Amino acid sequence: MPLVTLRQALDAARSGGYGIGAFNVTDLVQVEAVLDAAARTSSPVIVQTIAGASAFGSDDLYWDLLLRSVAHYPQVPVVVHLDHGPDADTCRRAIDAGFSSVMIDGSLDPVTHQPSSFDANVAVTAEVVAYAHARGVSVEGELGTIGGSEDGGGTLKEIILADPDQAADFVARTGVDALAVAIGTSHGAYKFTSPPDGTVLHMDLISTIAARVPGTHLVMHGSSSLPADLRATINAHGGALPESWGVPEDEKARSTKLGVTKINQGMDSHMAYMAALRTYLDTDRLSADPAPANRAGRVAMTDMVAERMAVFGQAGHAAEIQVAPFVAR
Ligand code: 13P
Repeated sequence: MPLVTLRQALDAARSGGYGIGAFNVTDLVQVEAVLDAAARTSSPVIVQTIAGASAFGSDDLYWDLLLRSVAHYPQVPVVVHLDHGPDADTCRRAIDAGFSSVMIDGSLDPVTHQPSSFDANVAVTAEVVAYAHARGVSVEGELGTIGGSEDGGGTLKEIILADPDQAADFVARTGVDALAVAIGTSHGAYKFTSPPDGTVLHMDLISTIAARVPGTHLVMHGSSSLPADLRATINAHGGALPESWGVPEDEKARSTKLGVTKINQGMDSHMAYMAALRTYLDTDRLSADPAPANRAGRVAMTDMVAERMAVFGQAGHAAEIQVAPFVAR
């Protein structure tokens, strides 16, 4: 029962009182790292990727191979999810490829990258929901804007906190299965300038919004912790990541008690991978084959993701998700 929808996985998480990590992957070695971590910890898992942000030359080849990888892990339920679809066409492309879930990020205008109007967000999200639900695919929307840059490039986004008054209206008008709520977090390796407190990380918003949309799953984006030891290792081997603080581990665990069921993490996995890769390259200076360095990165990323699965609470819950597998149509 490998491929399941976001709705199926998150409904089980809500019943079980835990969160499920949605781990960003940018190549097949990272896909293997995440699926190995899920198999090791018996976790349901969400594997997510951003269109055009992989090491591959085309989404077509990458997405096809990613989807095929899932069949190698029959013991774990896997959601394959498009992260931050910028427009309806990209979401339709992922759905047609066989993804079981997509995010339409209608909070930003795809051309100007400026915050879009509430009505424009509703319109594009409802359009994607109609297409996706007709094919059994789940949809995540976004309310407010999350800071930073999802794929590590492009322009920085300002943070506009999610408005609880708009949440119920948005869900009623779009029918989304999950809602990314901007609570002060940012994407990427640069988040808070000091350990975050309630003035910048608005955890209280989660429970306020959860009460307004009880049938919809809440998603925490920008959840990486940015571990200082990994930054130090990267910088000791040629990197230059500035000091920055992410979301503390205990706050991520607390978010699942407040109403979050999907926790997005990309940068922590990337940092674990890069720290091991840079260390390997510095210690084996005669190596010309990239495979051993990438292998070291994969092993480190598997360990990191497995640790996070324990923090989010999904570890040990793989066998509980007894639903019909998702079949693309
Ligand atoms: P991080 O950059 O904190 O890992 O967040 C990833 C994310 O939210 C992807 O949508």
